[in-house]
Amino acid sequence: MLAQTVDRQTVHKMIHHFYAKLLEDKLVGHYFINSLGDNLENERWKDHLTTLDNFWLKMMTGKGAYGGHPFPPHAFLGEMYIETFERWLELFKEALNQFFIPKIADKFYKKSEILAAQFMYNLDIGNEED
Ligand code: HEM
Repeated sequence: MLAQTVDRQTVHKMIHHFYAKLLEDKLVGHYFINSLGDNLENERWKDHLTTLDNFWLKMMTGKGAYGGHPFPPHAFLGEMYIETFERWLELFKEALNQFFIPKIADKFYKKSEILAAQFMYNLDIGNEED
């Protein structure tokens, strides 16, 4: 059944599924494998998944323990492209729709699009005028 509320448990389930899919993906998986390894059960991944749970709880409810800066780690992942972000967004949308009712899935997705656009802007990706 699709979740109708955003809480630690529902966010965690969606996030865990999303990152399992990202890891398997040809376009984006390698960024995560290079940075955190290929096993979601290792300590780095466990820490990362907790960070992401906290981040999305904060983004969606205003509560939660995330107090970091989401962009900086992305400046050190190697070359990324518009296609990398499009794939990330596509997989995120799939995961959201598998776990949350449409109204909540859309709210998550809109927030992720805004951040992805900011990250691309910071990384000078997709800026045709340069
Ligand atoms: C091309 C797409 C993306 C790739 C390949 C990517 C990859 C990564 C990787 C490898 C890390 C871990 C870095 C480390 O700790 O060493 C990370 C951290 C993170 N990412 Fe992404 N990411 C992408 C897009 C996004 C987007 C669109 C968002 C938000 C909507 C996001 C949110 C975060 C957050 C919150 C962290 C944790 C930052 C912290 O440690 O406080 N990422 N990302």
